Amino acid sequence: MNELFDLSRFHRQTMVPMNPQLATLFGDSLALIDPWFRLGYSSASLHRYFSINTAERQTLAVLAGETPAACLTVRPDWLRGPLLELLAVLPQFQGKSLGKEIILWLAEETKRQGQANLWTISSEFNASARAFYRLQGFEEVGELPGLISPNETEVLLRLRLGCRNSPILDTF
Ligand SMILES: CC(C)(COP(=O)(O)OP(=O)(O)OC[C@H]1O[C@@H](n2cnc3c(N)ncnc32)[C@H](O)[C@@H]1OP(=O)(O)O)[C@@H](O)C(=O)NCCC(=O)NCCS
Repeated sequence: MNELFDLSRFHRQTMVPMNPQLATLFGDSLALIDPWFRLGYSSASLHRYFSINTAERQTLAVLAGETPAACLTVRPDWLRGPLLELLAVLPQFQGKSLGKEIILWLAEETKRQGQANLWTISSEFNASARAFYRLQGFEEVGELPGLISPNETEVLLRLRLGCRNSPILDTF
């Protein structure tokens, strides 16, 4: 497990595979905040989601010291590059560059594996996440109406790692 992504290369904080205790904590926390609250996810469904950590969908947590700060799930081999299926920085850790550092780490890992695309999805209503991803160089490439909830649209985003169109890529 986790043979594709080198967690030790995430230097800002500690990145670890999700465990049952962390799955409960992140499930409870995310059920209370958007986009998961608005999309109708229960803490129980998020617990189940975070409890599955396979080679096809890796579920990771970031700890600030010993305090859970962020989590992510990644499908490593999605479409000529990985899909960042979920990214959440807990509210008390937002705005401190942690999300940016996670994207930078994942982009570097993707590039290290010889892949040139990093994908993610965001709810259309999640203007702050869309602004965040745009700043990291992601382009919105398609709309997916009703993907998660019948009345909501998800947006597919692509970061092309061969293109220098974002400050995050200047580090390559
Ligand atoms: C969206 C999210 C991942 C961003 O992570 P973060 O750690 O708070 O963001 P950072 O501190 O790394 O910000 C990086 C850059 O994005 C910008 N940014 C962050 N949130 C922003 C917002 N709401 N609006 C506009 N810009 C924003 C920052 O100003 C910063 O810009 P800079 O590099 O020029 O200084 C985080 O706020 C989050 O988890 N939100 C709730 C869940 C969510 O929406 N997840 C994503 C979709 S599944």
